[in-house]
Amino acid sequence: MAATEPTIDRDSFGRVIAVESLKGGVGKTTITANIGGYLALSGARVLLVDLDPQGNLEDDLGYADDERNDQGESLAKALMFGGEVAAITNVRENLDVWTGGSALHSVTAVLSSKMGSDAKNAKLALAKILAPVVDNYDFIFLDCPPGDGVLQLAALAAARWVLVPTRTGAKDIKGVAKVAERIDQVLDVNGAIDLLGVVLFAVGTASERKDGTVVMKNAERDARADLDAMFGVGEEGGIGREIVFNQAIRHSEAVASQSGRAGLLVHELDERAKQEAKAGIAWWKIRSGELKNKQLTSATAGSVADDLQTIAQEINDRLLEAENEVLEGASA
Ligand SMILES: Nc1ncnc2c1ncn2[C@@H]1O[C@H](COP(=O)(O)OP(=O)(O)O)[C@@H](O)[C@H]1O
Ligand SMILES: [Mg+2]
Repeated sequence: MAATEPTIDRDSFGRVIAVESLKGGVGKTTITANIGGYLALSGARVLLVDLDPQGNLEDDLGYADDERNDQGESLAKALMFGGEVAAITNVRENLDVWTGGSALHSVTAVLSSKMGSDAKNAKLALAKILAPVVDNYDFIFLDCPPGDGVLQLAALAAARWVLVPTRTGAKDIKGVAKVAERIDQVLDVNGAIDLLGVVLFAVGTASERKDGTVVMKNAERDARADLDAMFGVGEEGGIGREIVFNQAIRHSEAVASQSGRAGLLVHELDERAKQEAKAGIAWWKIRSGELKNKQLTSATAGSVADDLQTIAQEINDRLLEAENEVLEGASA
Protein backbone atom coordinates (compact mmCIF):
# COMPACT_ATOMS: atom_id res chain seq x y z
CA MET A 1 0.00 0.00 0.00
CA ALA A 2 1.38 3.38 -0.97
CA ALA A 3 1.76 5.79 1.91
CA THR A 4 -0.77 8.60 1.89
CA GLU A 5 0.61 12.00 1.02
CA PRO A 6 0.46 13.97 4.27
CA THR A 7 -1.23 17.35 4.33
CA ILE A 8 -0.70 19.91 7.07
CA ASP A 9 -2.67 23.12 7.32
CA ARG A 10 0.20 25.56 7.86
CA ASP A 11 -1.89 28.69 8.41
CA SER A 12 -1.33 28.85 12.15
CA PHE A 13 2.27 27.65 12.20
CA GLY A 14 3.71 31.16 11.71
CA ARG A 15 5.18 31.36 15.18
CA VAL A 16 6.52 27.86 15.61
CA ILE A 17 10.25 28.24 16.24
CA ALA A 18 12.79 25.40 16.31
CA VAL A 19 15.79 26.15 18.50
CA GLU A 20 18.38 23.99 16.85
CA SER A 21 22.12 23.38 16.71
CA LEU A 22 24.31 20.37 16.02
CA LYS A 23 26.19 21.14 19.21
CA GLY A 24 25.18 20.72 22.81
CA GLY A 25 25.90 23.36 25.42
CA VAL A 26 25.23 26.33 23.16
CA GLY A 27 22.18 27.69 24.97
CA LYS A 28 19.24 26.01 23.22
CA THR A 29 17.48 25.06 26.42
CA THR A 30 18.38 28.29 28.21
CA ILE A 31 16.92 30.30 25.33
CA THR A 32 13.80 28.15 25.01
CA ALA A 33 13.01 28.42 28.71
CA ASN A 34 13.89 32.06 29.25
CA ILE A 35 12.66 33.61 26.02
CA GLY A 36 9.50 31.52 26.26
CA GLY A 37 9.17 32.50 29.91
CA TYR A 38 9.62 36.16 29.15
CA LEU A 39 7.06 36.15 26.34
CA ALA A 40 4.59 34.35 28.63
CA LEU A 41 5.24 36.94 31.32
CA SER A 42 4.36 39.68 28.85
CA GLY A 43 1.01 38.01 28.21
CA ALA A 44 1.60 35.77 25.20
CA ARG A 45 0.37 32.17 25.33
CA VAL A 46 3.42 29.97 24.98
CA LEU A 47 4.07 26.26 24.49
CA LEU A 48 7.55 24.82 24.97
CA VAL A 49 8.26 21.39 23.50
CA ASP A 50 11.23 19.50 24.97
CA LEU A 51 12.47 17.13 22.28
CA ASP A 52 15.63 16.20 24.15
CA PRO A 53 15.93 12.69 25.66
CA GLN A 54 18.01 14.40 28.34
CA GLY A 55 15.01 16.50 29.32
CA ASN A 56 17.02 19.45 30.60
CA LEU A 57 14.21 21.96 30.26
CA GLU A 58 12.82 20.77 33.61
CA ASP A 59 15.88 22.21 35.39
CA ASP A 60 15.52 25.68 33.91
CA LEU A 61 11.81 25.78 34.74
CA GLY A 62 11.85 23.74 37.94
CA TYR A 63 9.14 21.18 37.13
CA ALA A 64 11.38 18.11 37.60
CA ASP A 65 9.34 16.92 40.59
CA ASP A 66 5.93 17.86 39.21
CA GLU A 67 3.77 14.72 39.27
CA ARG A 68 2.70 15.46 35.70
CA ASN A 69 6.33 15.19 34.51
CA ASP A 70 6.31 11.91 32.56
CA GLN A 71 9.86 12.21 31.13
CA GLY A 72 8.55 12.53 27.59
CA GLU A 73 6.27 9.49 27.69
CA SER A 74 3.19 11.22 26.31
CA LEU A 75 5.15 13.14 23.66
CA ALA A 76 6.98 9.97 22.59
CA LYS A 77 3.72 8.04 22.15
CA ALA A 78 2.16 10.80 20.12
CA LEU A 79 5.25 11.12 17.89
CA MET A 80 5.18 7.40 17.16
CA PHE A 81 1.46 6.68 16.94
CA GLY A 82 -0.28 10.08 16.73
CA GLY A 83 -2.80 11.41 19.23
CA GLU A 84 -2.86 14.06 21.89
CA VAL A 85 0.05 15.08 24.11
CA ALA A 86 -0.62 15.63 27.81
CA ALA A 87 0.92 19.04 28.51
CA ILE A 88 2.04 20.31 31.87
CA THR A 89 -0.14 23.38 31.81
CA ASN A 90 0.70 26.63 33.55
CA VAL A 91 4.30 25.83 34.48
CA ARG A 92 4.18 29.60 34.71
CA GLU A 93 1.17 31.75 33.90
CA ASN A 94 0.50 31.40 30.13
CA LEU A 95 3.28 28.82 29.78
CA ASP A 96 2.65 25.14 28.95
CA VAL A 97 5.25 22.43 28.38
CA TRP A 98 5.36 19.14 26.53
CA THR A 99 7.97 17.38 28.60
CA GLY A 100 10.94 15.54 27.16
CA GLY A 101 13.21 12.92 28.67
CA SER A 102 14.29 9.34 28.39
CA ALA A 103 11.04 8.11 26.81
CA LEU A 104 12.11 9.93 23.62
CA HIS A 105 14.95 7.47 22.94
CA SER A 106 12.55 4.97 21.40
CA VAL A 107 11.10 7.61 19.06
CA THR A 108 14.40 7.99 17.25
CA ALA A 109 14.50 4.28 16.39
CA VAL A 110 10.88 4.18 15.22
CA LEU A 111 11.05 7.34 13.12
CA SER A 112 14.44 6.40 11.67
CA SER A 113 13.09 3.11 10.35
CA LYS A 114 10.03 4.89 8.98
CA MET A 115 12.32 7.34 7.16
CA GLY A 116 13.24 4.54 4.73
CA SER A 117 9.72 3.67 3.61
CA ASP A 118 7.65 6.77 4.33
CA ALA A 119 10.03 9.71 4.79
CA LYS A 120 7.45 12.47 4.49
CA ASN A 121 5.21 11.13 7.23
CA ALA A 122 8.23 10.44 9.43
CA LYS A 123 9.44 14.02 9.07
CA LEU A 124 5.95 15.35 9.79
CA ALA A 125 5.49 13.38 13.02
CA LEU A 126 5.74 16.51 15.15
CA ALA A 127 3.91 18.87 12.78
CA LYS A 128 0.92 16.52 12.81
CA ILE A 129 0.57 16.44 16.58
CA LEU A 130 1.10 20.20 16.84
CA ALA A 131 -1.55 20.98 14.22
CA PRO A 132 -4.56 20.54 16.55
CA VAL A 133 -3.08 22.88 19.21
CA VAL A 134 -1.18 25.59 17.28
CA ASP A 135 -4.17 27.91 17.44
CA ASN A 136 -4.06 27.84 21.25
CA TYR A 137 -0.66 29.53 21.37
CA ASP A 138 1.01 32.76 20.25
CA PHE A 139 4.47 31.18 20.31
CA ILE A 140 5.69 27.59 20.23
CA PHE A 141 9.38 26.86 20.86
CA LEU A 142 10.89 23.49 20.01
CA ASP A 143 13.92 22.72 22.19
CA CYS A 144 16.00 20.28 20.13
CA PRO A 145 18.59 17.78 21.26
CA PRO A 146 22.08 18.26 19.80
CA GLY A 147 23.06 16.37 16.65
CA ASP A 148 21.41 15.78 13.29
CA GLY A 149 19.00 12.96 13.95
CA VAL A 150 15.40 12.40 12.99
CA LEU A 151 13.95 14.34 15.96
CA GLN A 152 15.74 17.48 14.80
CA LEU A 153 14.43 16.86 11.30
CA ALA A 154 10.91 16.55 12.68
CA ALA A 155 11.39 19.88 14.48
CA LEU A 156 12.50 21.57 11.26
CA ALA A 157 9.57 20.03 9.41
CA ALA A 158 7.19 21.54 11.99
CA ALA A 159 8.77 24.97 12.30
CA ARG A 160 8.15 28.18 10.40
CA TRP A 161 11.42 29.54 11.81
CA VAL A 162 14.76 28.24 12.98
CA LEU A 163 16.71 29.96 15.73
CA VAL A 164 20.35 28.90 15.99
CA PRO A 165 22.30 29.66 19.15
CA THR A 166 26.07 29.39 19.06
CA ARG A 167 29.16 30.12 21.06
CA THR A 168 31.73 32.37 19.42
CA GLY A 169 34.51 29.84 18.62
CA ALA A 170 35.53 29.26 15.00
CA LYS A 171 34.30 25.64 15.07
CA ASP A 172 31.01 26.68 16.60
CA ILE A 173 30.45 29.14 13.78
CA LYS A 174 31.04 26.43 11.17
CA GLY A 175 28.34 24.36 12.87
CA VAL A 176 25.82 27.13 12.14
CA ALA A 177 26.25 26.59 8.40
CA LYS A 178 25.42 22.92 8.88
CA VAL A 179 22.08 23.69 10.53
CA ALA A 180 21.25 26.04 7.67
CA GLU A 181 22.04 23.21 5.22
CA ARG A 182 19.75 20.84 7.12
CA ILE A 183 16.83 23.11 6.28
CA ASP A 184 17.07 21.85 2.68
CA GLN A 185 16.17 18.37 3.87
CA VAL A 186 12.66 19.34 4.94
CA LEU A 187 11.73 21.63 2.06
CA ASP A 188 9.74 18.77 0.48
CA VAL A 189 7.29 18.88 3.40
CA ASN A 190 7.79 22.42 4.72
CA GLY A 191 8.38 25.03 2.05
CA ALA A 192 7.74 27.91 4.46
CA ILE A 193 10.72 27.32 6.76
CA ASP A 194 13.29 30.09 7.13
CA LEU A 195 16.18 31.12 9.36
CA LEU A 196 15.04 33.55 12.06
CA GLY A 197 18.53 34.33 13.24
CA VAL A 198 21.63 33.40 15.18
CA VAL A 199 22.04 34.16 18.90
CA LEU A 200 25.55 34.47 20.35
CA PHE A 201 25.67 32.63 23.69
CA ALA A 202 27.97 32.97 26.71
CA VAL A 203 30.06 35.82 25.29
CA GLY A 204 32.62 37.83 27.24
CA THR A 205 31.22 41.03 28.73
CA ALA A 206 31.65 44.11 26.60
CA SER A 207 33.36 47.07 28.25
CA GLU A 208 32.24 50.65 28.16
CA ARG A 209 34.61 53.54 27.36
CA LYS A 210 34.49 56.84 29.24
CA ASP A 211 32.72 58.45 26.30
CA GLY A 212 29.95 55.85 26.59
CA THR A 213 30.83 53.79 23.50
CA VAL A 214 30.63 50.05 24.07
CA VAL A 215 33.54 47.88 23.02
CA MET A 216 32.77 44.23 22.45
CA LYS A 217 35.35 41.48 22.96
CA ASN A 218 37.32 40.37 19.89
CA ALA A 219 35.74 36.91 20.01
CA GLU A 220 32.26 38.38 19.61
CA ARG A 221 33.35 40.79 16.90
CA ASP A 222 35.07 38.00 14.93
CA ALA A 223 32.07 35.70 15.29
CA ARG A 224 29.76 38.42 13.97
CA ALA A 225 32.06 39.10 11.01
CA ASP A 226 32.32 35.38 10.17
CA LEU A 227 28.56 34.87 10.36
CA ASP A 228 27.84 37.96 8.26
CA ALA A 229 30.28 36.66 5.64
CA MET A 230 28.74 33.17 5.79
CA PHE A 231 25.27 34.50 4.96
CA GLY A 232 26.47 37.31 2.68
CA VAL A 233 24.90 39.97 4.94
CA GLY A 234 25.40 43.35 3.30
CA GLU A 235 26.65 41.74 0.07
CA GLU A 236 24.99 41.68 -3.29
CA GLY A 237 23.22 38.36 -3.77
CA GLY A 238 23.40 37.74 -0.01
CA ILE A 239 20.53 37.13 2.35
CA GLY A 240 19.45 40.78 2.39
CA ARG A 241 18.74 41.11 6.12
CA GLU A 242 20.50 40.81 9.46
CA ILE A 243 21.14 37.28 10.70
CA VAL A 244 22.94 37.68 14.03
CA PHE A 245 20.82 39.23 16.75
CA ASN A 246 22.20 42.56 18.01
CA GLN A 247 22.00 41.41 21.58
CA ALA A 248 24.23 38.55 22.73
CA ILE A 249 23.83 36.54 25.96
CA ARG A 250 26.70 37.31 28.27
CA HIS A 251 28.69 34.60 30.00
CA SER A 252 27.88 33.94 33.64
CA GLU A 253 28.50 30.59 35.25
CA ALA A 254 27.08 31.85 38.55
CA VAL A 255 23.76 32.76 37.01
CA ALA A 256 23.62 29.50 35.03
CA SER A 257 24.30 27.33 38.03
CA GLN A 258 21.98 29.18 40.40
CA SER A 259 19.13 29.18 37.92
CA GLY A 260 19.50 25.43 37.24
CA ARG A 261 19.68 24.58 40.93
CA ALA A 262 16.73 26.71 41.94
CA GLY A 263 14.59 25.89 38.89
CA LEU A 264 14.17 29.61 38.32
CA LEU A 265 14.28 31.56 35.09
CA VAL A 266 16.92 34.26 34.98
CA HIS A 267 14.45 37.11 35.45
CA GLU A 268 13.06 35.26 38.48
CA LEU A 269 16.57 34.91 39.86
CA ASP A 270 17.00 38.64 39.38
CA GLU A 271 13.78 39.17 41.34
CA ARG A 272 15.22 37.03 44.14
CA ALA A 273 18.42 39.11 44.16
CA LYS A 274 16.33 42.26 44.58
CA GLN A 275 14.34 40.72 47.44
CA GLU A 276 17.58 39.77 49.17
CA ALA A 277 18.90 43.30 48.82
CA LYS A 278 15.68 44.61 50.32
CA ALA A 279 15.95 42.18 53.22
CA GLY A 280 19.46 43.40 53.93
CA ILE A 281 21.18 40.16 52.95
CA ALA A 282 24.66 41.20 51.84
CA TRP A 283 27.85 39.29 51.07
CA TRP A 284 29.76 40.90 53.94
CA LYS A 285 27.13 39.79 56.45
CA ILE A 286 27.40 36.25 55.12
CA ARG A 287 31.24 36.34 55.22
CA SER A 288 31.31 37.69 58.74
CA GLY A 289 29.00 34.89 59.86
CA GLU A 290 26.22 37.28 60.83
CA LEU A 291 23.97 35.45 58.37
CA LYS A 292 24.62 31.72 58.37
CA ASN A 293 23.83 29.15 55.65
CA LYS A 294 22.88 31.80 53.15
CA GLN A 295 23.88 31.90 49.52
CA LEU A 296 23.64 35.21 47.82
CA THR A 297 21.99 35.37 44.42
CA SER A 298 24.41 36.56 41.76
CA ALA A 299 24.06 40.27 41.04
CA THR A 300 24.79 39.46 37.39
CA ALA A 301 21.31 37.91 37.08
CA GLY A 302 19.90 41.34 36.25
CA SER A 303 22.29 41.82 33.33
CA VAL A 304 21.71 38.35 31.89
CA ALA A 305 17.96 38.81 32.31
CA ASP A 306 18.24 42.08 30.35
CA ASP A 307 20.12 40.29 27.57
CA LEU A 308 17.44 37.61 27.31
CA GLN A 309 14.60 40.10 27.37
CA THR A 310 16.20 42.20 24.65
CA ILE A 311 16.55 39.10 22.48
CA ALA A 312 12.90 38.21 23.10
CA GLN A 313 11.99 41.68 21.84
CA GLU A 314 14.26 41.31 18.81
CA ILE A 315 12.63 37.97 18.00
CA ASN A 316 9.19 39.53 18.25
CA ASP A 317 10.29 42.43 16.02
CA ARG A 318 11.65 40.12 13.34
CA LEU A 319 8.45 38.08 13.35
CA LEU A 320 6.30 41.19 13.08
CA GLU A 321 8.42 42.48 10.22
CA ALA A 322 8.10 39.19 8.32
CA GLU A 323 4.35 39.07 8.97
CA ASN A 324 3.90 42.64 7.77
CA GLU A 325 5.78 41.85 4.58
CA VAL A 326 3.36 39.01 3.92
CA LEU A 327 0.39 41.32 4.56
CA GLU A 328 1.79 44.00 2.29
CA GLY A 329 2.48 41.38 -0.38
CA ALA A 330 -1.09 40.17 -0.15
CA SER A 331 -2.61 43.66 -0.42
CA ALA A 332 -0.27 44.85 -3.20
N1 LIG B 1 24.76 33.06 30.47
C1 LIG B 1 25.41 31.89 30.60
N2 LIG B 1 26.76 31.84 30.65
C2 LIG B 1 27.41 30.66 30.76
N3 LIG B 1 26.81 29.47 30.84
C3 LIG B 1 25.47 29.45 30.78
C4 LIG B 1 24.69 30.64 30.66
N4 LIG B 1 23.39 30.31 30.64
C5 LIG B 1 23.35 28.98 30.76
N5 LIG B 1 24.57 28.44 30.84
C6 LIG B 1 24.96 27.03 30.99
O1 LIG B 1 25.46 26.55 29.76
C7 LIG B 1 25.16 25.16 29.62
C8 LIG B 1 24.52 24.89 28.28
O2 LIG B 1 23.30 25.56 28.20
P1 LIG B 1 22.00 24.87 27.57
O3 LIG B 1 21.00 25.93 27.41
O4 LIG B 1 21.63 23.68 28.38
O5 LIG B 1 22.56 24.41 26.15
P2 LIG B 1 21.99 23.33 25.12
O6 LIG B 1 20.52 23.22 25.36
O7 LIG B 1 22.32 23.91 23.79
O8 LIG B 1 22.72 22.06 25.38
C9 LIG B 1 24.26 24.78 30.79
O9 LIG B 1 25.03 24.14 31.76
C10 LIG B 1 23.77 26.12 31.30
O10 LIG B 1 23.52 26.09 32.67
MG1 LIG C 1 19.41 21.48 25.74
